[in-house]
Amino acid sequence: MDFDPVIRIADPCKPIEIDATRPLEIEVGCGKGRFLTRRAAENPDCDFIGIERMLGRVRLFASKCRCMGIVNARVLRLEALYTFHYLLPDHKVRRVYVFFPDPWPKRKHRSHRLFGPMFLDALWKRLETHGRIEFATDHAGYFDAVCECFAADRRFGRVEPMPRPPEVWTEFETMFREKGMPIHAAAWEAMPQDDDPELEPLRIPEECEPREGVARRVRIDREDGEKD
Ligand SMILES: C[S@@+](CC[C@H](N)C(=O)[O-])C[C@H]1O[C@@H](n2cnc3c(N)ncnc32)[C@H](O)[C@@H]1O
Repeated sequence: MDFDPVIRIADPCKPIEIDATRPLEIEVGCGKGRFLTRRAAENPDCDFIGIERMLGRVRLFASKCRCMGIVNARVLRLEALYTFHYLLPDHKVRRVYVFFPDPWPKRKHRSHRLFGPMFLDALWKRLETHGRIEFATDHAGYFDAVCECFAADRRFGRVEPMPRPPEVWTEFETMFREKGMPIHAAAWEAMPQDDDPELEPLRIPEECEPREGVARRVRIDREDGEKD
C-alpha cells in the first residue's frame, strides 16, 4: 500500500504506533509543514510527526509529503497536549519543535497557552534523556513566560537554540521576518531525573472546560440549518 502521511486514529486511547528502532522528532502546531517536510527530506534516517489541529493545514502537509516523495514524515490531526499526555511512548522523542505557537495575548485567554506545568510534565516524559525542545515566537511576553516556566522546572536545562537559516523558516516565521519583526528563540534539554511510572490523568482547569454558551450557539445554528 502507498505511504499515507496522515496518521489515522481509530481509537483515541491507543498510543500511536511508531518504529522504536528509528529516532523520532515531533513538531507541535506544524501548520502546512514547511519546516518539518524539509527536515524530513534532509534526514531520511529519522521519523517525523507533525501535530496540527486545523484540517486544511493537515491536508496541505500531507500533499506536500506526497509531492516531495517523503516517506518519513506523518501528520496527526489532534490536540497537542492530549497527544503528548496519552499517545506518545515514554522517553523516545529526540527533539520537539514548537515554532510560533498561538500567544493568546489577552490575559483572560492565557489558560489556552500550550506551555505550562501540564505540558512540561508530558514533554519531559516523552523526550529521551538530553532530548531537546526548540521554541521560537514573535511575542516577547510569551517568550518571557515560557522561559520562566522552564527556569522553574529542574528537569530541563537551557541550551543554545539550533541555527535556523531561511530555508527552514516556517510559514509564520517567513511572514514575521518579512515584516521585520523581532524573533525570540530558545531551547532546553531534558535532564536525567528519577522517573514516575505514569503521568497523572490530565486535570483541566475550570476556565478551559468547554463553555455552555458555545455549545448552545452551535445547537441554535444547527436548528437554523446553518453550518457550525
Ligand atoms: C500561529 S500558527 C504557527 C504555525 C507554524 N508553526 C508556523 O510557524 O508557521 C499555530 C499553529 O498551531 C496549531 N495549534 C495551536 N494549538 C494547537 C494545539 N493545542 N494542538 C495542535 N495544534 C495546535 C494551529 O492550528 C496553527 O496551525
